[in-house]
Amino acid sequence: MARRKKIYEGKAKILYEGPEPGTIVQYFKDDATAFNAEKKAVIEGKGVLNNRLSEFFMTGLGQIGVPNHFIKRLNMREQLVRSVEIIPLEIIVRNYAAGTMSKRLGIEEGTQLPRPIVEYCYKDDSLGDPLVTEEHIAAFGWASQQDMDDILSLALRVNDFLSGVMMAVGIRLVDFKIEVGRVFDGDFQRLIVADEISPDSCRLWDIETGQKLDKDVFRRDLGDLKDAYTEVAKRLGVMPKTAAPITKPTLIN
Ligand code: CDP
Repeated sequence: MARRKKIYEGKAKILYEGPEPGTIVQYFKDDATAFNAEKKAVIEGKGVLNNRLSEFFMTGLGQIGVPNHFIKRLNMREQLVRSVEIIPLEIIVRNYAAGTMSKRLGIEEGTQLPRPIVEYCYKDDSLGDPLVTEEHIAAFGWASQQDMDDILSLALRVNDFLSGVMMAVGIRLVDFKIEVGRVFDGDFQRLIVADEISPDSCRLWDIETGQKLDKDVFRRDLGDLKDAYTEVAKRLGVMPKTAAPITKPTLIN
């Protein structure tokens, strides 16, 4: 059997060379990390759930015309995606205060923001992904003004879509992170949504109970992460049939 070429291994995913030029195989690991990988665990089935959930969100975004890297799911843990030149920014959209914003500005978690707020962090684990301004981004050449206009528009469209999809299943989209990458189509280049969209990169709270259904369950030791992600997948109707069985009878209704 031919060995695949590994392009990159990150905290939660491995990227392999795809079958055709311009494609990549994205493999979702079961590894969970938090606090810049200071806290680690293997959560069996997380990769399967995130593969499905990211497929679900990216496909939905494609259907409303938000360009993204997803091509097709290959198997339980892998999807074929377009290879992109990643912009070295983590783009965070917030609808309610939480996490670092609450800490930084002293706003109680869960406070609704006057409007969605978009923040940019420089993608560098060794620096802990520091918050940066558009001044830094322009001065250091990480993205052009046109890129920034496109990024803002993509981020807000993703926010509208995800907020609506989540609201429909009784979940509040508190905040999320996306990454975008550059693709070249002949003489043209454009930015598309890349990486993943999953409960690893969103804050999702049950609207009724406030229960956390995202990676904060792991970060803050609030219970079983797989149960939380399974609940999100189940509500969205993307629960894989052959994996991630529901083990807790309380989740069956
Ligand atoms: O998650 P944390 O409190 O460290 O940082 P945050 O700035 O409050 O995160 C805002 C949102 O972006 C949360 O939904 C995080 O899960 C997500 N995020 C991420 O997916 N990856 C990062 N490196 C940083 C934030």
